[in-house]
Amino acid sequence: MKILTSKQQVREWRKSLSGSLGFVPTMGYLHEGHAELLKQSVAQCDNTLLSIFVNPTQFGPNEDLDRYPRDFERDTQLAKEIGVDAIFYPSAEEMYSVQTSITFDSGKMADALCGKSRPGHFDGVLQVVTKLFHIVQPDDVFFGQKDAQQLALIESLVEAYDFPLHVHRVATVREADGLAKSSRNVYLSEAERQEAPIIYQALQEAKELYLQTDSREKALAHAREVISTKTSGTIDYIELLSYPNLNERESASTMILATAVFFSKARLIDNLIIERV
Ligand code: PAJ
Repeated sequence: MKILTSKQQVREWRKSLSGSLGFVPTMGYLHEGHAELLKQSVAQCDNTLLSIFVNPTQFGPNEDLDRYPRDFERDTQLAKEIGVDAIFYPSAEEMYSVQTSITFDSGKMADALCGKSRPGHFDGVLQVVTKLFHIVQPDDVFFGQKDAQQLALIESLVEAYDFPLHVHRVATVREADGLAKSSRNVYLSEAERQEAPIIYQALQEAKELYLQTDSREKALAHAREVISTKTSGTIDYIELLSYPNLNERESASTMILATAVFFSKARLIDNLIIERV
């Protein structure tokens, strides 16, 4: 497995390949969610590249950029076991060596959900994935449904701006008790870790209620009630929107029920996709 640290090395490696290239962008500290993306790429593509880059432009001034968990040795080991062919592991200087006044604006799709409480976050995500897509030139890219708004924005970017690649949606990988796997779960105290699966339970109950009653208000009120009474977390948002358009007024056949909950040192997100027949 190759470790590539410069854009030039990636370009040369890319040129030497035969067959298709699958790409999995991450910020590292890999868990089974990332592993699932990598396994799908390895199974479906002739070559797989993993990128590990904690992208500074998607973190707000009071967010966890400096303490974001890292373990390159362990990540390398896991990637090797899965059959990844190369890791792109650039420095921030390498990624952002060229200054420009051109910026990214995610627009209305970033007004809802996480975009509301993380202004500029998705602009940074679209900026870095655009750069990565141009550097890597993959045929297939793999993103997790866990970050559903990110996935919707990337699909929209790819379609609207004609990136020649296919975006694969990968279902959320969960712990045995239902908690969505996340690099940030390590921030939870023992007590918080015990109660965190209630988020998923609340979403499931609210989804059932929505399918039974067709009432957005009842479903949201139920999820809010369960999370606020049965966990010590503080709800950032709970929303029920059309998916992937993320529109509150639209009543589409595919909807998303999504939440973000603050614990003492972690902000956890989770969502369920609701298909209405
Ligand atoms: P990161 O949080 O490291 O996630 C990398 C990829 O793993 C994303 O596509 C994310 O949706 C997916 N993922 C995370 N947890 C998952 C889970 N439990 N089940 C399935 N997939 C999961 O998302 C980012 O990094 C960054 O914003 C990035 C796209 C790399 C741009 O910097």
